[in-house]
Amino acid sequence: MCGIVGYLGEKKATDVILSGLEKLEYRGYDSCGVSFFSNIDNQFITYKDKGRVKHLVEDFNYSLVNHLGIGHTRWATHGKPNQVNSHPHFSRSERFSIVHNGVIENYKELTAKYLPHMKFISETDTEIIANLIEHFTHDLSVEEAIRKTLSLIEGSYALLIIDTTTPHKLYAAKNKSPLLIGVGTDGITLASDVMALIGHAQYYYPIEDKTFTSVTKQANGKYTYELFDIIGKPVTFKLLKIDMVLDEIGKAGYSHFMLKEICEQPSVIRKIMSKYMENDTFFVSPSILSMFEGIDRVYIIAAGTSMHAGFVGKHLLENMPKIPCEVFIASEFAYNPPLLVDNPLFIFISQSGETADLRACLVNVKEQGYKTLTITNVATSTLAREADAYLEIYAGPEIAVASTKAYVGQIVILTILAYLLAPRKPFDLHLELSKVAVSMEAIIDKRDYIHELVKEKITKRNCFYIGRGIDYFTCLEAALKLKEISYIQTEGFAAGELKHGTIALIEEGVPVIAIISQSAINNNTRANIREVTARGANKLVISLENVSDVTDEIILMDVHQLLTPLVTVIPTQLIAFYSALDLNKDIDKPRNLAKSVTVE
Ligand code: F6R
Repeated sequence: MCGIVGYLGEKKATDVILSGLEKLEYRGYDSCGVSFFSNIDNQFITYKDKGRVKHLVEDFNYSLVNHLGIGHTRWATHGKPNQVNSHPHFSRSERFSIVHNGVIENYKELTAKYLPHMKFISETDTEIIANLIEHFTHDLSVEEAIRKTLSLIEGSYALLIIDTTTPHKLYAAKNKSPLLIGVGTDGITLASDVMALIGHAQYYYPIEDKTFTSVTKQANGKYTYELFDIIGKPVTFKLLKIDMVLDEIGKAGYSHFMLKEICEQPSVIRKIMSKYMENDTFFVSPSILSMFEGIDRVYIIAAGTSMHAGFVGKHLLENMPKIPCEVFIASEFAYNPPLLVDNPLFIFISQSGETADLRACLVNVKEQGYKTLTITNVATSTLAREADAYLEIYAGPEIAVASTKAYVGQIVILTILAYLLAPRKPFDLHLELSKVAVSMEAIIDKRDYIHELVKEKITKRNCFYIGRGIDYFTCLEAALKLKEISYIQTEGFAAGELKHGTIALIEEGVPVIAIISQSAINNNTRANIREVTARGANKLVISLENVSDVTDEIILMDVHQLLTPLVTVIPTQLIAFYSALDLNKDIDKPRNLAKSVTVE
C-alpha cells in the first residue's frame, strides 16, 4: 500500500507532491512525509510525522522555492506509525533520501551480510535500501550502486530516491508495487497512481517490474528521463495519454466520497452498458469469449468485496452459460490451492488491479500455463497488464476505501460475460440492466428514510445480515461494508444456518437485517426472521416488490431475479454509510485500512 509522489520540474515541487499525496491518501494514511531541495540555501528539508496529509500541509513551512522533492503517505507494515518510522528515510550520512512502497523480504539477511554493524534509526525495512545504496557508492557510481541494490533486494518496491549531492536528478525503481512516470510540459512527476499526475502530466507510462529510471534537469533546462532494466540496458516504452479529469476525483458537492460513489451507481450501470455495446448489442472481444472454449471450470480469485462479487459471478456463470465455477479467497489459493481440473480458466476480480494476494496467484497460475482474465477498474494496473486479457469496469475512480460502485461494476461485467456466453439468452439484457439502474435510483432517492431507519434500528455494537442463495452473497458484502466503516461487529449469515449455533448471540434489540429477493426462498427466510424476532431481535427486512410483505421496512422495485444483487446491495451500502456517520467515524478512510492492498 502506501502512496508515493516525486517531482522534478519548473513548478514548486512541494505543491505537486502535497496535492498528489492528498489524492493518494486512500492508499494509506497513518503517517506521511516529504523531502525537498530548497534552492534558496541549497538545503534538503524533510518534514514527516504520524497522521494525515492535511497535518503535513498545515503544520510545516513550504515558502522556500523548491523544484525537486519526494513524498509518501504510509500504511505501516514494519514498525508502528510514528514520526521515526515515517518516510522519507535517509542513509547513514543523510546523502540519500528515499520513499518506498512495498515490503523488502530479505532486509534482515542483507543487513547481516552488508551492514552488520549498522544501527538503524527506524523499525522499517526501507532504511536498508538507502544504506545499501550509500554503501555501494564507495566503489560504484550512484546509478550502479542503485542497480546493485536492486539486484539484491527481494520483495516489492516502488522507490523514489534523491541523491542530495545532485539536486538536478531524481531516481526511481519498481518491482511489483505500482509506479508511473508522468511527463508534462514543465517537468516529470512519478507517482503510485495516475490520480496524482492529473494537472501535472499529459502523458504517462506504467513502469515495468525491475525497471530503473533516472530523471535529469539538463544544462539547457530540459527535463529528460530514461528507463533501464536492472542490468542497465535501456528499455523502450510508449507513453499513454492521461484521459482522466480533475472533476472525476472530487466530491462533487457530496459530504463524503462514499456517498458520492453510492449515488453514482445508476450512472455506472449506464456507462458500462454504453462501453460494452456495439450496434445495439452487447459486445465483448471474441478473443476473450473464446478463452471459455473447452474449459472445464472457471476459478474466480479475489479478496474482500471483490470476492463477494465473485460469488455473484459464480451464480451467473452457473445459471446462464452453465459453466461450473469456484470462488477462492486469493490469500488462501496462493498457498493452499485446490486440486485443479485439466482445463481451467482463472478470472481475477480486483477494483484496484494491484492486490498483492491476487498477484501471487496470477504469477503462480501463469507459470503453470493456465489462461487468465482480469476484471478491474484500473486498466493500467498490474493485474490488467499481466493477465492474458482484461475487462475494464469503467466505474470511474473509486476513492472511498469501502468499495461500492466498483462492486456493482464488477457484477455488471460478470453479467455481460455470462449473458454473452449463454447459448440461449434468458432475457433482454439492455432492458433488464436499465430497470436495475431505475430501481437503484429509486432507493437512493429515499436515502433520508434509510437514515431514519438506521437511527431506529442500528443501536447495538453488533448486527446480523441474513439471507439465502444469492441474497446470502449480498449479506456477506453488506456485513463487510457495515463493519469496515462503522466498526459495528457484523456477520453475514446464511439464514438457515443461524439456528445451528449463532442464534445464541441474538438478544433483546440486536439488529437482524434480512434480504429477500427470490420467491423460492421467501417463506424460508421469513421463518428465520420469526425465529430471531421471537428471541428479541430488532428486524429490518429488505425485499423486492414481488416477494414483499407490508411489514417490510425497505421494498425495492423489481428487477430480473438474476440481477437482484445489484439492487439489494444499495440499501445495505446506505445503512453502512449512515451508521458510520451517526457514530462520527472517518467514513472515507476507516481505521487500519487502505484502498489498495499491495502487500501479502
Ligand atoms: C472493502 C474493500 C476490500 C477490497 C479488497 C480487494 O470495501 O474494498 O475488501 O475489495 O481489499 O481489493 P481489490 O478489489 O482492489 O482487489
